[in-house]
Amino acid sequence: MTKLIKGKELSEKIVENISEELKNYTKKPGLTVIIVGDNPASRVYVNKKKRTAENAGFNSVVIELPEDVTREELEKHIDELNKDEAVDGILVQLPLPKHINTYDILERILPEKDVDGFHPENVGKLVIGLKPYAVSCTPYGIIRLLEENNIEIEGRHAVIIGRSNIVGKPMASLLLNRNATVTVCHSKTASLRRVCMQADILVAAVGREKFVKRDWVKPGAVVIDVGINRTEEGKIVGDVDFEEVSGKAEYITPVPGGVGPMTIAMLLSNTLELFKLHNDL
Ligand code: GUN
Repeated sequence: MTKLIKGKELSEKIVENISEELKNYTKKPGLTVIIVGDNPASRVYVNKKKRTAENAGFNSVVIELPEDVTREELEKHIDELNKDEAVDGILVQLPLPKHINTYDILERILPEKDVDGFHPENVGKLVIGLKPYAVSCTPYGIIRLLEENNIEIEGRHAVIIGRSNIVGKPMASLLLNRNATVTVCHSKTASLRRVCMQADILVAAVGREKFVKRDWVKPGAVVIDVGINRTEEGKIVGDVDFEEVSGKAEYITPVPGGVGPMTIAMLLSNTLELFKLHNDL
C-alpha cells in the first residue's frame, strides 16, 4: 500500500510552531519580497508568501517593481534592505526579466539576509558541508518531509530529475551531505527511464506534467514530486503520473498538498533563524 507524504499537514504544524515561538519575542521578524514585472505565477506565489508570513506574525513587505526596472534601481532597493535592521530576510522572486543578470542581483543580497540560500557564499557552504545562513526552501522542505516520515537517506540511491539552482542542485548537496548516493539527471541524460528505475528515492523537478510514468519507478521507491503544472483543463498536476505510480511506490507526495506547502513553511523557518541570528536569540 503506497503511503502519502502529507506536506500540507507538516507545513501547517511548522507554521503553527513558528507562530507560537514568535509570541515570546517583542519584535517581529522582517521578511521583504521583491517582485519584478507581472508574471502571473510569481504573483500567486508572492501573495501566498505574504499572507502566510503575516498570519504567522511576521512583518511581511512586498516591493513591486515594473518589468523595465533597471539593474541599478533594483540594486538600490537591495542595498537599502541590507542596511535596514528591521529586515531579516530578503527574497527576490525569480525569474527576473531577461535584461537583468540574476546572479548579479542574488550576490548583492547580504548572505546573512539571503533567506533563499541562493547567494554563492551560502551555496558554497552547502556544497562543502558547512552550515549556510539559509538553504533553498523547496529542497530543504523535502528533507524535512523525508525525516518526518522516518525515510532512510543514508546509503540509498537518490535520483533527481532536474538540475536547477533552486531545486536540483541544492537537493543533490543536501542528500549527498546525508550520505545518499546521488544521480542528477537532466534534458541530455541518456536512458533517463533506466536511471530512474534504479532510484530508491526519486525526486522529479522537471516542470512537465505527468512526466514520470509507472514503468520508471522501482517497486518500493520513495517518489517526491516537485512539479506544479496547470493542465489545459486548469487542474494542478505534478511531474509524476500520480494515478499510475501510486500503488507501485512505497511513498509518494501528492500534488497539490505535498512539496508545495513545505516551500513556504521553510521560508518562514529560514526567516525566523535569520531573525534569531540578528538578535542574538
Ligand atoms: N521562483 C520559483 N521558486 C522560487 C524560490 O524558491 N525562490 C525565489 N526567490 N524565486 C522562486
